[in-house]
Amino acid sequence: MNRGFWKQLAKPFFVLAPMADVTDSAFRQIIAKYGKPDAFFTEFVSTDGLCSIGRKNVMMDLYFTESERPIVAQIWGRNPEHFYTSALLLQELGFDGIDINMGCPDANVCKQGGGAALLKEPELAQTIIRETKRGAGKLPVSVKTRMGYNVDILEDWIPKLLETEPALITVHGRTKKEMSDVPAHWDRIGRAAEIVRSRGSKTLILGNGDVQTLFKRTRGRNARSVHSRTNTRDDRAYFSL
Ligand SMILES: Cc1cc2nc3c(=O)[nH]c(=O)nc-3n(C[C@H](O)[C@H](O)[C@H](O)COP(=O)(O)O)c2cc1C
Repeated sequence: MNRGFWKQLAKPFFVLAPMADVTDSAFRQIIAKYGKPDAFFTEFVSTDGLCSIGRKNVMMDLYFTESERPIVAQIWGRNPEHFYTSALLLQELGFDGIDINMGCPDANVCKQGGGAALLKEPELAQTIIRETKRGAGKLPVSVKTRMGYNVDILEDWIPKLLETEPALITVHGRTKKEMSDVPAHWDRIGRAAEIVRSRGSKTLILGNGDVQTLFKRTRGRNARSVHSRTNTRDDRAYFSL
């Protein structure tokens, strides 16, 4: 399994969650200067867009500077061929990793069969991961996902993902149906880490949802690392939404 730069990070590590229309390069550069996390993600970028004639416009969301490394490009879609082609491009652009979005609950994204809608299509999800890995060369490929679409399918879903040997899985501790309306189920994120361990897999689990501080969320939990949109290294939030 290729875990790339993820393997080098001391645990628990802390990354800034991807946020469309928020975490662009200018934003990340400010965060890099005043409270750098262990890794950055781009906003999510459409693989269909990257494979279309409008590619130039979409590429703007892939701009980054050296101060933002390690930086992972997050992509979404449902066409495996487009994931392969996009991965080749991301390799050329010099990213440190590629993350596949299988958790976005946005109606427009799910209507197109991407984001969290992939939770309903495990075989397609596996093909997408494999095709992305095929195009990614030496770059580690990770997945960001939820516990399920309408109901919690974690017990089946995590093993399905593990069959494709992703470097890391970010588990957002809610189903798509739950949106952000309920507290994140950190016991289930812990369970995902347990499933990984019980299978002897080296895939890393990154917990996500309701993260307020680094230490509150990792202490006493099975997940060793967290994924936050509030970028706090201690109890002071650098920004809040
Ligand atoms: C404005 C906004 C944009 C987001 N865009 C993305 C995105 O592009 N990709 C992604 O994986 N998650 C996205 N998310 C989800 C966050 O990365 C993160 O999973 C979520 O905010 C964590 O849950 P919490 O809000 O309960 O802390 C977005 C969240 C917000 C608030």
